[in-house]
Formats: sequence, structure tokens, C-alpha cells
Amino acid sequence: MPVARHEADILQLVKNGFFDEIKLPLVLGGGSNILLTKDEVEKVLKIEIYGIEIVNRTNDYTIVKAGAGVNWQGFVEFTLDYGLYGIENLTLIPGTCGAAPMQNIGAYGVEISDVFDSLEAIHLQTGKKEIFYKEDCEFGYRQSVFKSTCKNEYIISSINLRLRNHFTPVLSYEVLASRLESSGNTNPTARDLSRLVAAIRMEKLPDPAKQGNAGSFFKNPVVDMYQFQEIKKTYCDLPAYFQEDEKVKIPAAWLIERAGLKGFQVGNARVHDRQALVLVNSGKASGNEILELSKLVADSVFSIFNIRLDPEVNIV
Ligand code: EPU
Repeated sequence: MPVARHEADILQLVKNGFFDEIKLPLVLGGGSNILLTKDEVEKVLKIEIYGIEIVNRTNDYTIVKAGAGVNWQGFVEFTLDYGLYGIENLTLIPGTCGAAPMQNIGAYGVEISDVFDSLEAIHLQTGKKEIFYKEDCEFGYRQSVFKSTCKNEYIISSINLRLRNHFTPVLSYEVLASRLESSGNTNPTARDLSRLVAAIRMEKLPDPAKQGNAGSFFKNPVVDMYQFQEIKKTYCDLPAYFQEDEKVKIPAAWLIERAGLKGFQVGNARVHDRQALVLVNSGKASGNEILELSKLVADSVFSIFNIRLDPEVNIV
């Protein structure tokens, strides 16, 4: 499998026609958000561009550059060691720095777009290096230009984040605030917050190194206010996150659980027992079996709630 350790390696591959549009390779960061439905993929490129550097520092902010292949959690640890703040709530998300902006990773009240400055990406046909600033990335909920209009057109080689030099905790996610309160910690450090996020994740989310899974399999659906109110008439405990544009985001995990599918298993593909949004491989399920289970789950939710769940993982 070809490995790109430097931007020059990608340029060389462009020159050699490796990114021929008819048969594009599968580009892997950590591969943690991918469901493979075939036994073999013809062409794969692994990105192993490493290195972290401070690019600029003002009184309030520090711009930090990370190579696309840097492990995300390693990067979070680096920022905590250097007293740079903004991504402590994104602790323990599997994957690499280069993959993080692709789907605008988010957890516990923070998305990477909140601290994003820019990224460098190489165009797969021209070999030209381009800079994408925040507004160019068109970030949304688990969404960016690299998953929509520029899909399969670029390889991200590095990212620049704008991190704060002074710590202010982001506690908008109710569970974080309540857990801190019940532990009596009224003045948490960034490390405290990072540890708390790690603890909550470990309680609910299966470790992909121990049990195959790609985190949330579906995105949380966003519906309009009318549809939300209609469902709420029948299900008064329907949880909701109200959005700015009169839309409502509903936890897919709740819909799946309410459809009676938590712990539901077909062969070795299973809806996780502690977080219904995660599909796990409890043995030797093939990618296709996981995909079949996901369709069953989505169809069931649709038949009950008239809401169509969209996958969050990349299905190859
Ligand atoms: N819930 C259930 N049943 C469950 C799990 C959750 O009913 O089995 C309900 C509860 O009402 C809970 C609500 O769903 O309050 C939300 O659950 P949770 O806090 O676990 O978050 P989520 O919406 O299911 C999202 C992200 C996660 C992220 C968490 C925390 C998506 C698709 N998923 O999950 O991200 O860690 O919030 O911020 O937005 C990922 O993207 O892979 C991922 C794990």
C-alpha cells in the first residue's frame, strides 16, 4: 500500500496518474470512520504526514499546524501539555488531524470548526497546493466542502488551528456541566474537562480497538419545527436540540432505542447496548452485514417516526 509521508509523495503520485479519475484510491487517515463493504479495495493511499509546529502566537491565540497524519488524540494531548485550549472537549475521538475537518468532528458542545483557522490541501488532478480558510470549508454539522462539492478532489496535507492561550471551559453540553457539579468541581482545568470527556466516552462508546465500530453510524436528523411538534404529541419525552433556523435536531440514538432496537442483533452485527447510535461488530460480521443492519435500523425508524436516518460513516 502506498504511503504519503510528505506532500512531495502526493505530488509524485499525481504525476504518475495514481489519482486517475476513473479509479480513485481510497485515502486513509486512521480509517476509523469507514465501513468497507468489499473484501479488497484496489487502490489505497495511507497518509502519514507527521509533525506539529507553532505557526503564530499573539496574546490571546496560538496558531498550531499539524500534519494530516498526526493522531488526533496525540494532538489533543500536545495542546494540553502546551497550555493551548479549545479542543479539550474533543478528547478521544479516533482518527487523524487530516480527517478531522472533512466531517467537522464534534463532541460535547465543540466542533473543530470552532477553532479552525485553515488547511492545506493538494488537488488530485493538478497537483496544486491550495489553502482553504474557514469560510472556504463550508462547515456544517458533520459536513464540509470535502464531503460535498469538493468530494474526492483534494487530499488534506495539514491543518492549522487557532487555539486559545487562556482557558475558558465550554460546558454547554448538559452532561458535562452536571457531572462537574455533582463532583463538586466548580473551577475545572482543561485537563479536568478532558479527563471527564474521556470517562464519559469510555462509559458509553465501545473502544474500536477491542470491538469493531465506527462511532456514531448515523447523523442526528434535523427536522422542522412542525414535524418535531407532531412527533412530540405522541412521544412527550422526545429530546431535542433547537437550532438557529427554526429546525430541531433529534438524537438518532433515542429514535433507535424507542424503535426497540437497542441491543438488536443480526448475525454478528449489533446495535450497541449502551449507545444505540453505534453499530458494533460482535464477532466476524462482514461490512455488508453491518450495512444490512443499518438499513433495517433506518427503515424501522422511518416506519415509526417518518424520519430518514442518514449514515455518518463513509461507506466504501
Ligand atoms: N440516547 C438514547 N439512547 C441511547 C443513547 C442516547 O435515547 O442509547 C439519547 C439520550 O436522550 C441522550 C441523547 O440521546 O441524551 C444524546 O446522546 P449522546 O449524548 O450520547 O449523544 P449523541 O447525540 O447520541 C453525538 C455525537 C457523538 C458525540 C456525542 C457527544 C453525532 C452523530 N454523534 O451523539 O459523536 O460523541 O454527541 O457530543 O452527532 C461520532 O460522531 O462518532 C460520535 C460518537
